[in-house]
Amino acid sequence: MKFAKRVEQLPPYLFVNISRAIAEKKKQGIDVISFGIGDPDIPTPQKVLDALIDSSQKPENHKYPESEGLPEFRKAVAEFYKDRFNVNLDYETEIINLIGAKEGIAHAALCFIDPGDISLSTNPAYPVYEIGTMFAGGQTHFLNLEEKNQYLVDFTSIPTNIAKKAKTLWLNYPNNPTGAIAPISFFEEAVKFCKEFDIALLHDAAYTEVTYDDYVAPSILQVEGAMDIAMEFHSLSKTANMTGWRVGMAAGNKDMVNALMRVKSNIDSGLSQSNQYMGIAALKLSDDWYKQNNEIYKKRRDKVVDVLNSIGVKTVKPKGGLYIWTPVPKGYTSAEFAEKLLNEANVVVTPGNGYGDAGEGYIRLSLTIPDDQIDEGLIRLSKIRVSS
Ligand SMILES: Cc1ncc(COP(=O)(O)O)c(C=O)c1O
Repeated sequence: MKFAKRVEQLPPYLFVNISRAIAEKKKQGIDVISFGIGDPDIPTPQKVLDALIDSSQKPENHKYPESEGLPEFRKAVAEFYKDRFNVNLDYETEIINLIGAKEGIAHAALCFIDPGDISLSTNPAYPVYEIGTMFAGGQTHFLNLEEKNQYLVDFTSIPTNIAKKAKTLWLNYPNNPTGAIAPISFFEEAVKFCKEFDIALLHDAAYTEVTYDDYVAPSILQVEGAMDIAMEFHSLSKTANMTGWRVGMAAGNKDMVNALMRVKSNIDSGLSQSNQYMGIAALKLSDDWYKQNNEIYKKRRDKVVDVLNSIGVKTVKPKGGLYIWTPVPKGYTSAEFAEKLLNEANVVVTPGNGYGDAGEGYIRLSLTIPDDQIDEGLIRLSKIRVSS
C-alpha cells in the first residue's frame, strides 16, 4: 500500500513512548506515577453533567448539529468574552464552535496555507500548529522561546524575507509547555508585526482560565486592531475538566471565522448539541468554582516545585497552565534525565524535546494527577540525587 507522504512524515505521537514505558513497568509489577499527559483528574462539574443529561432527552439534540454550533452556544461564548475580557463579539459572525481546540487548530491551517507556504510557530510548542501546517503542504519557520526572554517571541529576530512570506503566526499564552505568560504589550507587538507583514495571527488561549497567584491572563482580542487580523482558540477541556467532551471555540475576525466554518462544514458535522449544552453550562460556572479548581492545581504546583528545588533541579513557579517546565541538571539530555527518573524513581515526566528541539535540556511535569499520586511521586523524586 502507498501511503501519503504526510502520513509517513508524521512523528510518533509524543505520548506513545511514554505509554509504552509505563506498560513495560506495569508488566514487571511496578507501579508508575505519571506526570506525563495533561488530562485533568478532577471530574467534570455536576452542573455540566446535568446539562448533558437534560439535553440528551430532547430528540432535537439527536440530529446533526450545524458546523458553526448552536446560536445559544455562540451567545454564551460572546457573554464570556464580554464578562471576562471586555471584548464585544458578534455571535453570528465572529464565533464558531469546535470539536475541541485541537480540531480547530489543525483545520485552521487549511484556511491559510497553500503548498509551499510558510507558517511561523514557536519552538517548543504544542505540536498541532506544525502538524496542521504540514498537512496543508506548508512549512513551519520556528521562533525559539528562550528562558532569557521569558519564553516570549522576539519579533525583531524574524528575518524580513521570512516575515514577508509567512501566512500565519501561532502563539499560545499561558504557554504549553513552558508555563510562560504574556503581557498585553507583547500581544500589541504581535498584532503590529502581523499587520505590517499581512499575517493571520492565531492565538491558542486554551489556558487563559487556568492561572495562579491572582494573575489574570489577557485575550489577544483585547488589543486594538486585533479583530482585523486575529483569531483566538479556546477550550473548555482544561478550564472545566472536560477533555473527554471535546468542547472548544474560536473567535475573532469574521472572515477568518467564516473560512474556518467553510473548511469545517466540508469535513465534520459539528459537535453534538448535547455537548454544546455542556459547554454553555461550563461557561456559566461561577467565578468561585474556577477559583476553587485553580486552587487545587496551585497547591500541587507549589509542592512539585518545592521538591524539584530541594533535589537540585532549579524550578520556578508558573503563573498559568498545568505544567512545570524545568531545566534538567547539567550533564543530562532531556531523555536521559526522564529515563533516570523512570528507572530510579518509577516516575514518568515528558522530555522537553518532544515539543521541538528548543525544548532539549528541559522536562515537563503535568499537574493533572490526583493528590495522593502527586505526594507519592514527590516522595520518590525527593530521593533522587543529582550532582550540581
Ligand atoms: C496548548 C494547547 N492547545 C490546545 C489543546 C487541545 O485542547 P482540546 O482538548 O480542546 O482539543 C491542548 C491540549 O493539551 C493544549 O495544550
